[in-house]
This record gives sequence, structure tokens and C-alpha cells, in this order.
Amino acid sequence: MKRDKTACNCKNITYGMIEDAIRNGASSYEEVQQSLKFGTGCGKCKEFIQYLVRDILEEEAERNHL
Ligand code: FES
Repeated sequence: MKRDKTACNCKNITYGMIEDAIRNGASSYEEVQQSLKFGTGCGKCKEFIQYLVRDILEEEAERNHL
């Protein structure tokens, strides 16, 4: 994952920030959104970030089962 890639331009949220929120305990799209407040500008990033959060949650679940 490219941690410095931007996921939400309006709020300057990077992939890495989303990954960190999940590692720090956010366990759903809603929880990540509440902690980072992305998607409150143009809103265009929301659908994409839903997929991104789902992918990261799956990756983390796999990592935790190793
Ligand atoms: S890019 Fe996220 S609200 Fe506009």
C-alpha cells in the first residue's frame, strides 16, 4: 500500500492515515470516518474509501490470524 497516496483531497487524508485509524481500533467505515472526518467536502471520495477500508480490514484480519 502506498501510505502517502491521497484518499480524500478535500481533507488531505492519506491511505496511511486510514490504515493507522484501523490499526488504532476503528473497525468499520463509519468509525474511520468519524475519527478522520473525510468525505465532508465534495463527498466524491466516500465510495472509494469504503472499498479501501474494507480491503484494509481484510488485510488486518489476515495479519492477525498469522
Ligand atoms: S475528496 Fe473527500 S470530500 Fe472531497
